[in-house]
Amino acid sequence: MIFVTSVSQTSRQVLSNQGGIHPDLEKVVRRHLSSAYRKPVSDASRAAFAGMLARWRGWNPVAPLILDSGCGVGESSLRLARLYPSAFVLGVDQSAHRLARAAPNRPDNLALLRADLVDFWRLLEAEGIRLERHYLFYPNPWPKSEHLKRRWHGHPVLPALVRLGGMLECRSNWRVYLEELASALEMATGQKPALEDWQPEEAISPFERKYQASGHALFRLRLDLRATEASSNPCLTCGACCASYRVDFHPSELAGGIYAWGAGVPRDYALTLTPRLMRMRGTDASPPRCLALNGEIGVRVACAVYAGRPSPCRDFLPEHEACQRARRRLGLPARAMT
Ligand SMILES: C[S@@+](CC[C@H](N)C(=O)[O-])C[C@H]1O[C@@H](n2cnc3c(N)ncnc32)[C@H](O)[C@@H]1O
Ligand code: SF4
Ligand code: SF4
Repeated sequence: MIFVTSVSQTSRQVLSNQGGIHPDLEKVVRRHLSSAYRKPVSDASRAAFAGMLARWRGWNPVAPLILDSGCGVGESSLRLARLYPSAFVLGVDQSAHRLARAAPNRPDNLALLRADLVDFWRLLEAEGIRLERHYLFYPNPWPKSEHLKRRWHGHPVLPALVRLGGMLECRSNWRVYLEELASALEMATGQKPALEDWQPEEAISPFERKYQASGHALFRLRLDLRATEASSNPCLTCGACCASYRVDFHPSELAGGIYAWGAGVPRDYALTLTPRLMRMRGTDASPPRCLALNGEIGVRVACAVYAGRPSPCRDFLPEHEACQRARRRLGLPARAMT
């Protein structure tokens, strides 16, 4: 049974001094898309992130990741974890008070975490993690015109949200919020999100339930960000080198090793060749294919240990001739060199 936490039972319609899309939206979004956001990430966020990586890798390091951003009491995260049992679902919220009211019994593929999404999204992005699905259920609308910069699409973290990829879904009871988000996403990706009226048969979260009970119109926006990911990183639709070359590295890059990148290479993914040499499993098979490579080569792939992949993988770039050789070997077209 889904644990239902009550918030106050009724709610007033969103009141705003804005009649439609904010006149400064385009200027603000274009500025954020063309500049890097450099606010330092807090130690608390880094610690929460490291804990999450350990949980996810410990459960199933190759499981896709679904993120419920601003999960509140985690009711929607729990529903998602049951709906997608082979994915790892992560609910993130900054409110300790809300998270403390989450259902105590959770499936193994669910983690709820306290963190500021402004940090958390950038940490995910920096580790090269890409989402399978990303949900934003009823983000705070910040409806006053002067609060544009507090809305996710008016915030400098927007480019990181876009680059996290996956199937993005955002729900709101304020249509203008989603119209603005749609416009910002179109500026960022060139794709037009779907925006529709939304009346679910069963509420997915306490806020959705409260707004339904109060007779509010509800709206949802959806956009498949995977095409954007692919155009920003050619490797996500390739994987040829991971199915062509041996990958050998020093044991100090294994998980827990002193030269491990991120969480390091999980021990199960590597063979010991000598006390000083490890090899990614599968890369010396015939035909070769690294055990960590998920997906279909030339269509959509992901490295299951991306954040901790060893140095030969980090040093191998699409600009190298060896990249073209691998692609030819696997029957993929040559990459246009810029
Ligand atoms: C209106 S509530 C919606 C909660 C839940 N998604 C639901 O539908 O019931 C918005 C949530 O976003 C969280 N939130 C807002 N800004 C955040 C941030 N920067 N980092 C993490 N959580 C944030 C708030 O703490 C709050 O729980
Ligand atoms: S072969 Fe080139 S494009 Fe393909 S995954 Fe490797 S580096 Fe990326
Ligand atoms: S560890 Fe990852 S990047 Fe390296 S060969 Fe394996 S799948 Fe490719």
